Amino acid sequence: MIVGGSASENLAEKISERMDCDLSIPEFEKFPDGEVYVRLTDDVEGEDVVVVQSTCYPPNQNYMELFLLLDVARDSGAEQVSAVVPYFGYGRQDKRFESGEAVSLETVANLIECSGADEVYMMDIHPQPIERSPEVFDIPAHNLTAADILAEYIDQNYSLSNPVVFGPDSGAEEWAKRAGEAIGADWDYMTKKRLGPEEVEITPREINVEERDVIIVDDIISTGGTMREAIDILKSHGSNDVFIACTHPVLVDDALDKLRDTGVKDIVATDTIEGEVSKVSIASVVSEALSQ
Ligand code: R5P
Repeated sequence: MIVGGSASENLAEKISERMDCDLSIPEFEKFPDGEVYVRLTDDVEGEDVVVVQSTCYPPNQNYMELFLLLDVARDSGAEQVSAVVPYFGYGRQDKRFESGEAVSLETVANLIECSGADEVYMMDIHPQPIERSPEVFDIPAHNLTAADILAEYIDQNYSLSNPVVFGPDSGAEEWAKRAGEAIGADWDYMTKKRLGPEEVEITPREINVEERDVIIVDDIISTGGTMREAIDILKSHGSNDVFIACTHPVLVDDALDKLRDTGVKDIVATDTIEGEVSKVSIASVVSEALSQ
């Protein structure tokens, strides 16, 4: 049985259709003091329950819902409880950079386990390499990727001219490789130096982009600063159409408008965070992983 958290109801429905499983949408309420109420509306006793809940904005509320859903599923007699957390909030602080800092990734991983999850699935969790899960879980953890389905979407919807795939920084090398290989295109990555919260300096490597269509692929677009800089560089090197793609369209404030202003041909993201540019669903990737 697929249980859809309020941040991922549409995705949960798609997963249930693909897997030919029951879909259960719980009741959610928020009390005037901000507390969260959830109630399972179906009997889960003896079921293999998959709770699908992204922990995007508002992360605290979405996490609380996730914990409550896992706990009530376990407590109501589910046989097996799986957590699918497509966008894994608090995942970026995976180390203690300064003394006294909370390592939020570890904290939420512990809370997911304590809430009753037997296994956890996430997508392109930052800054982990593809298919390697952070070593903070004592339960089986799966880090899935959307890099290939993003590239395939662009390849299938446009007649690309001699395409090349770029990662906007060295951390995106694996996504560029996976995306390039998925559509049989060249791939490479650029080097990035962060100058401030919205300002980055990107240096291209030696690959000829002249008159070629380019796909830039990354895990997250947040302010869009990284992508904007990469687009400028590629355009200045004579590229043809530029497409940008990411797994998680965080897109804070007016990031999307600013990206559109660059003249980019298309902005493609997945439904780990459901929004305007969520053109590719991760339902196929998640269903396949759950079926194994
Ligand atoms: C960082 O290394 C990530 O992979 C992304 O490149 C980054 O989070 C994008 O952030 P922004 O859109 O704010 O530049």
